[in-house]
Amino acid sequence: MMHGGGQRSFVSDEVKNKKPKLWIIKRLAGYFKPFIWIVLAATLMLMIVSALQIVPPYLTKVAIDKYIATKNFTGIYKIAGIYLLVLILQLVIQYAEIMLTEYVGQRVMIDIRMKVFEHLENLSMTFFDKNPIGRLVTRVTNDVEALHELFTGGVVAIIGDFFTIIAIVIVMLKMSISLTVASFVLLPAFAIAAYIFSIKSHAAYLDVRKYVAESNANLQENLSGVKVVQAFAREDRNYKGYERINKNYVKASFRAITINTVFFPVVEALSSISIGLIIWYGGGKSIQGAVSAGTLVAFISYVKRFFDPIRDLGEKYNIVQNASASSFRIFKLLDTKMLIKDAPDKKQITPKIGQIEFKNVVFSYNKGETILKNISFKIERGEKVAFVGATGAGKTSIISIIPRLYDIDSGEILIDDIDIRKYDKKCLRAGIGMVLQEPFIFAGTVFDNIALWDKSITLDEVKRAAEIVNLAPFVERRRKGYYEEVGERGSNFSQGERQMIAFARVFIKNPPILIMDEATSSIDTQTEALIQDALLKIMEGRTSIIVAHRLSTIKNVNRIFVVHKGKIVEEGDHQSLLAKKGVYYKLYKLQYAD
Ligand SMILES: Nc1ncnc2c1ncn2[C@@H]1O[C@H](COP(=O)(O)OP(=O)(O)O)[C@@H](O)[C@H]1O
Ligand SMILES: [Mg+2]
Repeated sequence: MMHGGGQRSFVSDEVKNKKPKLWIIKRLAGYFKPFIWIVLAATLMLMIVSALQIVPPYLTKVAIDKYIATKNFTGIYKIAGIYLLVLILQLVIQYAEIMLTEYVGQRVMIDIRMKVFEHLENLSMTFFDKNPIGRLVTRVTNDVEALHELFTGGVVAIIGDFFTIIAIVIVMLKMSISLTVASFVLLPAFAIAAYIFSIKSHAAYLDVRKYVAESNANLQENLSGVKVVQAFAREDRNYKGYERINKNYVKASFRAITINTVFFPVVEALSSISIGLIIWYGGGKSIQGAVSAGTLVAFISYVKRFFDPIRDLGEKYNIVQNASASSFRIFKLLDTKMLIKDAPDKKQITPKIGQIEFKNVVFSYNKGETILKNISFKIERGEKVAFVGATGAGKTSIISIIPRLYDIDSGEILIDDIDIRKYDKKCLRAGIGMVLQEPFIFAGTVFDNIALWDKSITLDEVKRAAEIVNLAPFVERRRKGYYEEVGERGSNFSQGERQMIAFARVFIKNPPILIMDEATSSIDTQTEALIQDALLKIMEGRTSIIVAHRLSTIKNVNRIFVVHKGKIVEEGDHQSLLAKKGVYYKLYKLQYAD
């Protein structure tokens, strides 16, 4: 766990101690503080509703004892009128109370969700390397939802139940002490049965939920990778895997249903027996004239109303436990400090010149596994260099540490003679245009994907950028042109087109530094030529670092660095490196020669 300062993932899904802790409650309360007055108003309404709830049985008692017994019609009408009024009043206040509670609940959920989102957005890549996206998505959705449930279904309901129970007990004791005692004889047995039931049922439903999540994850992965599944004829095996998860799901569901159908009637029976007890005991008393018939009827209603909240107590407890585990996970995530920190005296300047220097840079993703070993080089303003090397040599790592996607272990990286850790992160990155190996395309239009939702960028600018990077003809032949919706992750765009979209982004951003991780897969020669042409244009006037996989790219740069096992082993231009007959020569023979 991150809390201990270790390097492992921030928190596992299992939370061992589910008891709500004071610090969690305090922190949660902090989120509700801005809404304190609404919460108080809702609580007041809740008290009124609870009080109103005990009126109808009392009215029944009055109607029976006072008016039915004496055949007083006007009295009965009057009672019926009051009864209706109480119900309407209860309905209106309850409506207002629920609306207010929901309002606060939703507002707090938005606050927490946005906080988590903002925090996630700023975490270092190291964090994302260690935490599966699926789990993080669960965190933002399910865990926040559990908190919502805690507030609306847990805390508020418990407060309401508490008022109801107190009010009922007071009224019952006032009406008849002996009947009250009789009603509560079975209370302990009932409470215990209800508690056991809810614990068992909760465990079963947790299993069901687990398998649903597993099934969803499996489905999503299989559909996302459907091309690979089909290409490798994995359909049958994956079908079996999905079937196994579904069978587990069915089993767990049946367990939950069994518990519900076996235990629940037992719990209900106990409450019915209590009512039977009142009829038996109270009936005798009524015949003796010790209690009135109306009191007896009212008692039956009260007992029902009394037992329901007690029955649900276990469930409420589960909600509280769940929410406690969820808030624990959310707060732990918010406390995760895997950030790329800005220096206290950070410089609010963006790199303008584009001179890059590595001084004895050592870098590792995980402690003890050094990836880059003592790398030093200097790239002058406007220079174009290529990094080449075998897969896993460390090329992507070298370019990832320049915009501080990761921080280095030791050494220095200087841009315009200033250590990159001295820049404000955002300013530093504003000075660097990045083209990743697999350009990410967001859901939205072509226009959005080039402008990246920057409102200050006009359609004309986007069009001009698209023309420069040879993307324009591809976009213009689409039905909606720049307003064409891009499929999920740009699926309706070719790899070449996606590459050009990434170029267009850089062209608009216009930074002094260009960093590109060239795609490894080859594209048809025609598109290839267009991309090369675009690359030449966007390299123009920029310090450019290209992780190169194509000979044509390599021939377009001033200098080549050969990376081998985390070190720069050779340096020079194409001809001089070939003449050396070293690593570059071998690489060239293997990769680039026809
Ligand atoms: N996110 C990561 N976490 C841990 N190790 C990584 C990560 N990315 C790359 N590596 C490891 O770092 C080494 C260099 O990788 P990389 O820089 O991607 O090489 P290249 O781009 O030259 O193919 C490889 O051994 C790779 O397994
Ligand atoms: Mg790479």
